[in-house]
Amino acid sequence: MSSAAISIAPASSAPEPGANTPYLRLGGEAGVRKLVDHFYDLMELEPRYAELRAMHPTHSEETRDKLFWFLSGWLGGPDLYSSRFGHPRLRMRHFPYAIGTKERDDWMACMVQTLNEVDMDADLRRQLHEAFAGTADWMRNKAEQGNMPAGNVVHG
Ligand code: HEM
Repeated sequence: MSSAAISIAPASSAPEPGANTPYLRLGGEAGVRKLVDHFYDLMELEPRYAELRAMHPTHSEETRDKLFWFLSGWLGGPDLYSSRFGHPRLRMRHFPYAIGTKERDDWMACMVQTLNEVDMDADLRRQLHEAFAGTADWMRNKAEQGNMPAGNVVHG
């Protein structure tokens, strides 16, 4: 299994039936739910993520559901997000939020703590860390001194 199995375009990377996908290695639906719940529990409870939490408008069950639906397909399981909302267009959906290096790093810190605290094999942990880091970096949309992201939205 190569890390290419994790893709931000789930429709084009549908795993072969029975393949040992990250989704299955994480424990299927229950495992992905656990990851998402741990991530948002940390964001809500840990003082060090207070600023990250403040950026999130809702904190409803739907916030958790959306990340769960997205990750389900992203990890090679059922594509629950696209079947509800169409193509994820994840970067575009983040345009309302000003995401620079600090926001990216806060989000990643919360996700890295999650990956370290949720039970999974070390290879999978490494693979997920890499995939999340790349995607979180891609989500930056705020112009910063000497560090202009490739996007087309400039937040002041
Ligand atoms: C691997 C990186 C990331 C993934 C997979 C991801 C995934 C998602 C998904 C699926 C949604 C729901 C979109 C929708 O349908 O409305 C969302 C919302 C959101 N994301 Fe991300 N995201 C990532 C990185 C980030 C980063 C770096 C930030 C910056 C702090 C961020 C902040 C937010 C906020 C504020 C929302 C709105 C949540 C709400 O409505 O309560 N995300 N994200």
